[in-house]
Amino acid sequence: MSAADLAPGDDYRGSGLRFPVGFVLGSATASYQIEGAAQEDGRGPSIWDTFSHTPGRVWNGDTGDVADDHYHRLDEDLDLMADLGLHAYRFSIAWPRIQPTGRGPANRAGLDFYSRLVDGLLVRGIRPIATLYHWDLPQALEDGDGWTSRATSEAFADYAALVGGALGDRVATWTTLNEPWCSAYLGYGSGAHAPGRTEPASALAAVHHLNLAHGLGLQALRSVVTAQAEYSVTLNLHVFRGFGDGAEEAVRQVDGLANRVFLQPMLEGSYPADVLADTASVTDWSFVRDGDARAICQPLDVLGVNYYSTTGVRLWDGVSPREMNDGHKDAGGSPWPGADRVEFLRLPGPYTAMGWNIEPAGLEELLVSISRRYPSLPLMVTENGAAFDDEVVEDLTRPTGVAVHDDDRIDYLRRHLTACHRAVERGVDLRGYLVWSLLDNFEWGYGYSKRFGVVRVDYDTLERLPKDSALWFAELARTSRLPAADPVRTA
Ligand code: FCB
Repeated sequence: MSAADLAPGDDYRGSGLRFPVGFVLGSATASYQIEGAAQEDGRGPSIWDTFSHTPGRVWNGDTGDVADDHYHRLDEDLDLMADLGLHAYRFSIAWPRIQPTGRGPANRAGLDFYSRLVDGLLVRGIRPIATLYHWDLPQALEDGDGWTSRATSEAFADYAALVGGALGDRVATWTTLNEPWCSAYLGYGSGAHAPGRTEPASALAAVHHLNLAHGLGLQALRSVVTAQAEYSVTLNLHVFRGFGDGAEEAVRQVDGLANRVFLQPMLEGSYPADVLADTASVTDWSFVRDGDARAICQPLDVLGVNYYSTTGVRLWDGVSPREMNDGHKDAGGSPWPGADRVEFLRLPGPYTAMGWNIEPAGLEELLVSISRRYPSLPLMVTENGAAFDDEVVEDLTRPTGVAVHDDDRIDYLRRHLTACHRAVERGVDLRGYLVWSLLDNFEWGYGYSKRFGVVRVDYDTLERLPKDSALWFAELARTSRLPAADPVRTA
């Protein structure tokens, strides 16, 4: 479907829509973005500690040293989730808390923290969805060449076994990786993310070793987990809008690099031939060994889909300055190895504070297209949300006397949840929706300048304040219906 197929006035502002029984409504976070306590209880340094402490890498020199101090405020944050009535909470485990150097025995204190988190969720009736890797690779592994090396995939499997062994009696859903696209292409291609390398061939080697880590990690988990659990991976699949004469060709190339290079090995056990051909001048892919594709392709119970925006592309004429508006920070290198003939266009607004265009139709289209390609694979939206420039205002109707009236975020969430509802109506087996994010947090290269939380965090006092969007989401979670226009302020 494209925007042209929409009926006039069809703006995705649904209200009262009811989600199916069992549809999971929750929120998501990631370890480095919220935990803080960077040097406590035996945690080793990760690539994001190194990167954020390197001048010029992160906005304002911000680091995750303290972040939301979630590590010390665990109980308060669990209570907050319970107050919001979340059905599920997606968190990630910091590998360097479990293995400070990425290898060797588990650090008991690290496992204990996540064990308390999981118990705290279960006692409050919240379903734990654990991600093993949301980008905080132990620095010691990066010193050994990080994701460009097969040894890192093997180390990941050992780590997965340690965590699975400790928490495998309680976690409901296991996710191997979050957005390997970002780890590989932003970490090793563009340099916008840790470890900040700008090596096109390394980015593709990282793609493969992340895929392999997923496959080996899932096998390791399955061999130790004792509870009935679901196994998944979360991908940030891209929805492209092609323009100009070569639109189809431009979309084919970037769809290969962004989507099919992960989906096809994970779900079909092979790499797309056109991607190997497109990137032949960058690498010969000799890091792929016999048997790898089979190892990568493991049964999945649910595929996690992260969606924020759409991406405009066209074939570059090679003459005019090449546009690179792909929504990511420019850090010198390209996150699109081998796609030097493609340029990235800024799409029409409205935009969020990230400069990302808001297009809920893209989410519906994405869910429908994945489910057509893989009809027996259930899906879950594991991230969706928006940064806006929130303001704290006086509001004497609230117990705290202050409020964040983030109508723009509510509007964004409403439209994307409407898109989810439509996908369900069109037959997609969509199991749930997790809002990014529970809390304002460390937004990677943008530091604390971009606020995605439905709960505000005051970075001076670390106090939490549910924004109007949190109250709106709580109403949604309570009723499983999209609230009417302005439930919070008309209440
Ligand atoms: C995703 C990341 C998540 C957060 C959002 C805004 O790419 O998985 O950690 O930064 O974007």
